[in-house]
Amino acid sequence: MGYVYIRDVLDGGYTGKQVHLRGWVYRIRKQKKMVFVMLRDPSGVIQTVIKQKTVSEEQFADAQKMLIESLVTISGTVKKDDRADGGFEIQVSNLNVLHFAEEFPITENQSVEFLNDTRHLWMRSRKITNILKIRDEVFRSAREYLRSKGFYETTSPMFVSTIGEEGAALFEVEYFGKKIYLTQTSQMHLEPQLFAMEKVFTLAPSFRAEKSRTRKHVTEFWHLEAEEAWCDHECNIRRQEELISHMCHSVAKSRRNELAELQIDPERLLKIKTPFDRMTYTEAIDFCKNEGLSIEWGEDIRTEAEELLTKDRDTFLFIEYYPKEIKSFYMKNNEDDPRTFRCDDLLAPEGFGEIIGGSQREDDVGLLLDNIRRSGDDPEKYEWYLDIRRYGSVEHSGFGVGMDRLITWMLNLEHIRDSIPFPRTVSRVYP
Ligand code: 4AD
Ligand code: MG
Repeated sequence: MGYVYIRDVLDGGYTGKQVHLRGWVYRIRKQKKMVFVMLRDPSGVIQTVIKQKTVSEEQFADAQKMLIESLVTISGTVKKDDRADGGFEIQVSNLNVLHFAEEFPITENQSVEFLNDTRHLWMRSRKITNILKIRDEVFRSAREYLRSKGFYETTSPMFVSTIGEEGAALFEVEYFGKKIYLTQTSQMHLEPQLFAMEKVFTLAPSFRAEKSRTRKHVTEFWHLEAEEAWCDHECNIRRQEELISHMCHSVAKSRRNELAELQIDPERLLKIKTPFDRMTYTEAIDFCKNEGLSIEWGEDIRTEAEELLTKDRDTFLFIEYYPKEIKSFYMKNNEDDPRTFRCDDLLAPEGFGEIIGGSQREDDVGLLLDNIRRSGDDPEKYEWYLDIRRYGSVEHSGFGVGMDRLITWMLNLEHIRDSIPFPRTVSRVYP
């Protein structure tokens, strides 16, 4: 028997025809001689009506008995009906209950805490389902863009013995009596790989033991990181803006229904066009000062300043050339302004703030050693990393996209955790 997806019925392809559907009972309303079931599958929700006189006695008894989230198959005729949600109704001729659900714990108006405790069930909601399907498109389109530009997808270890991002707190792991870490970034293990493949990327978790309880922080996030040989700062900027706009457009084009259900206007994503706006760090500090923020050159651009810089924008903004003191040792020294590195942060619009950190990498072994020493770290631990600047060192750049943050911005979500199937925060590792 050929089952069809609810979306195809809602799109009008089966009007007047007999269809077979399978899915879960989303809502149910029982009357004496009729049972209305809102049936859901991954593609959508449709109204069905089970009448006493059109199904068998047993089937009608089952319909009267079943609770929401029961698993069913249904056969029936598609009728156009403007009173029904979605404009169609299925007049059921055959109902088969494959699993009678127990009483579902999630009812309307639950607290956020309860919904997070029952995340394994709540993800069936239309909201989370739609978000997860968009997340799939974001991941898919990122890979599509990078592959089309000649990048190879690769992997790197999650257990590491060196620190990748100064300033971002580490999770320590007991590793056969030794102290090691969960990786904060895959960058340092991607760079050696470009000597084999020139253009590489990885899509993997990064871990940060940050106590920040903001709408943008989780302790485990999905990090898209790319490294490219023969690529300077300008090339790196272009790569980032092309990638982000490709992802935005792909979601707008191929997830229209999901965006509509989440009440996001696809125009929000379609108007993201390259080239993005750019500002130097120095200009950004001046801007913030003029707006009345108390901030001095040399300080990091934190939430408040990011908000100020992006609140009146509807497209992305690069901030370039940060002071060395507030960025990581691996960045390329900027000869035009030696106080700074050739690096960038990409800020998302409407006050959202940082979603990418990137830079050209220091490819001179001596300068890199200086940077490590200046940061107060022990160069010995980085011998292997220094090695890649010793044998055919090549100009290269890279960046890391916080994928969960990007989705949070795209869908205007209240909190980053809603962009992730099973989010991990300071206070949550369950379920
Ligand atoms: O700016 P970050 O720390 O840069 C790096 O880790 C570089 N090594 C990346 C690279 O060049 N390959 O992190 C990159 C991005 C941030 O811009 C942010 O979007 C995201 O990772 N991110 C987080 N997302 C969610 N929760 C957190 N706690 C995050 N910390 C960073
Ligand atoms: Mg950063």
